[in-house]
Amino acid sequence: MDIISTRNMSRDFIEDVLEKTKKMETIAKAKKQVDMLKGKTLATLFFEPSTRTKLSFMAAMNLLGGTVVGFDDPRTSSVKKGETLADTIRVVEGYANAIVIRHPNEGAAALAAKFSEVPIINGGDGSNQHPTQALLDMYTILKEKGKLDGLKVTLAGDLKYGRTVHSLAYALSKFDVSFVFASPPSLRMPRWIVSDLKSSGISIKEIDSIEVKSDVLYLTRIQKERFPDIEEYQRVSSAYILDEETLKELGEETMIMHPLPRVNEISPGVDNDRRAKYFVQSFYGVPTRMALLAMVMADI
Ligand code: CP
Repeated sequence: MDIISTRNMSRDFIEDVLEKTKKMETIAKAKKQVDMLKGKTLATLFFEPSTRTKLSFMAAMNLLGGTVVGFDDPRTSSVKKGETLADTIRVVEGYANAIVIRHPNEGAAALAAKFSEVPIINGGDGSNQHPTQALLDMYTILKEKGKLDGLKVTLAGDLKYGRTVHSLAYALSKFDVSFVFASPPSLRMPRWIVSDLKSSGISIKEIDSIEVKSDVLYLTRIQKERFPDIEEYQRVSSAYILDEETLKELGEETMIMHPLPRVNEISPGVDNDRRAKYFVQSFYGVPTRMALLAMVMADI
């Protein structure tokens, strides 16, 4: 089983992951190793920087008793000598029971899956998808709101290049939600994603100001590294900032999420607000990824 995209992920599969994540949360909180994946090896191939995805996968594998190999700087791997992704995958599958890959190219994880006999997990491919982030986001919403149906969710910021919001929008669309997409006009959600979501019956409002009265306000970083034109980045880089002043307008029960890292989208003055959930959200990366690793390697 590969985890490449949330686009075709079923509601049943998502609910199964969330249920298993709940069981893993106890182990993750205790930080006490179990032997569920003893003898198994995870390879982490990170062609782009990461803190949360890489380290939480490593922590998840360690907690389940397994071993991790990998690289996080392709300049120190044979990619630097010109080795193709296909060859890298063919080699690494011989060293590991599953592979997590993060790559700047859209479609890289799907390509890797074509060449791999072991499960491939997409840790983010360009501006396309970041499915494991979406699953931990779903778990965070479920924990905080007690449900996934009946929610109004605002996705705000860089909806064009932000892979987390692409994956989360598809995952949430399997539930009874309505969306507000808040972005500068040049960073709107790609038309084909909006069209996909609408065809599954989801209500979507697109605005260019921030909507602060939703059940969930999910902010994102403007993805500087994806802009072909730095001047365009500079024009939109401070589009939406949540600070102590805008916090006054926030709904009483609006939870604030962010996949992190943040740059200037959320002022540190917001961090102690009871509605700010982005650090607990990043913690849930560990139990969610434990659940996924156990599903792909131990078939639980
Ligand atoms: N949220 C996320 O993907 O963070 P990293 O880039 O640090 O992995």
